[in-house]
Amino acid sequence: MPIDRRAAIRRLVQFVAGSPLVAAAARGQNPSTVYPPSYSDEVMGPVNLHEFEPIAKAKLHKLAYDFIAGGVEDEVTLRANRDGFECLRLVPRVMTDVSKVDPSVQLLGKKLPAPILLAPTGGKNLIVPGADLVCARAAAHVGTIYSVGGAPMDRLEDEGVELTWWSNTIGTPDRESAQNYAARVEDDGAGAILLTVDNQYQSNRDRNNRNRFDYGYMSSGVPQAKQGQPPRSPAIAAMWQRHTPNLTWEWMNWVRSRSKLPIVVKGVLDPMDAELAVENGAAAVVVSNHGARQLDSVMASIDALPDIVQAVGGKVPILLDGGVRRGTDVVKALALGATAVQIGRPYLWGMAAFGQEGVQRVWELLAAEFKLSLALAGKANVHDLDKRMVRNPQCGL
Ligand SMILES: Cc1cc2nc3c(=O)[nH]c(=O)nc-3n(C[C@H](O)[C@H](O)[C@H](O)COP(=O)(O)O)c2cc1C
Repeated sequence: MPIDRRAAIRRLVQFVAGSPLVAAAARGQNPSTVYPPSYSDEVMGPVNLHEFEPIAKAKLHKLAYDFIAGGVEDEVTLRANRDGFECLRLVPRVMTDVSKVDPSVQLLGKKLPAPILLAPTGGKNLIVPGADLVCARAAAHVGTIYSVGGAPMDRLEDEGVELTWWSNTIGTPDRESAQNYAARVEDDGAGAILLTVDNQYQSNRDRNNRNRFDYGYMSSGVPQAKQGQPPRSPAIAAMWQRHTPNLTWEWMNWVRSRSKLPIVVKGVLDPMDAELAVENGAAAVVVSNHGARQLDSVMASIDALPDIVQAVGGKVPILLDGGVRRGTDVVKALALGATAVQIGRPYLWGMAAFGQEGVQRVWELLAAEFKLSLALAGKANVHDLDKRMVRNPQCGL
């Protein structure tokens, strides 16, 4: 055999032997434990979180797709949530031993396999009836926390599925109802109360207004028979609908007098509000603009994070959501001081595309990307992340 050919074959053999899959097989590990587990070819089709959306879009009614995908008004913040992440650059370290990487975190006494939670999302029945149960089963399967607005998760207990779930609320109008609510969800086994504080009124969502979206469809789904017929209540009339406009920090005291559940305050962008949340007994704060679905033109969550981290000073964990789509986004958020992130739309696209397996696959892909990004940044675990590694003069860092 000519020398050149032999050298080429040797190089090919060395290349194949260097593949992580082959290396894993040589170590006696099933490659599927190295990469996320396999589903059907269809579910394994999308190679990142972005790619679930067009599949979901093709399967959903236009009203449902727009309800989920949309932001408010000009969707300035919707774009900013992504731009904020993309603007940041990482500075990795080298020559650190990353032969073992541990992506797990501790959050309110629970160990999570990766710092990624499923954010609360109302209106999922637009995708499939009983959607909360589908997502809850997926969350239990991957070992993360699930936040749910409505019914408690009795069905899961009956199925023997173990899940840590947080009860999501936009607050209640008076002391008595707050205390009754807190007592009820504590008895039902919630791990925490997730108080959404940025939902005073129904916001102004152009896509829903244009579609004359009927907010009743959030629980019933879009009735097939009604397609093309005028909705019961045009969405534009819903935009001033009162949710909890009288919610103040007093609500925290009402609940804390009746329940020992930790209260996680979601929807904070101003460092002063983060400080007030802590002063009023919050066990954690979620930096969030509601996925750009409440007030348009507010800051991207990732841009608001550093000042909030500074204001909170490590007194309670900080979570972040809004635009998290890549493992590197999770690295950036944690490096800037978050303990964990939440995702909203991506897991809804996963469910719309492939049901429970789609939700699982979305989480697993993001967790796998995060773990690999940690390793390639030279970090063996989340404690090695620090804000020095996130920079970009153009973004003011
Ligand atoms: C369809 C949909 C419904 C939502 N419903 C709620 C809700 O009921 N309560 C809440 O606090 N946040 C809600 N959110 C906001 C999410 O909890 C989360 O803040 C947001 O989706 C994160 O941004 P992302 O979608 O870019 O990941 C909703 C988001 C979506 C997309």
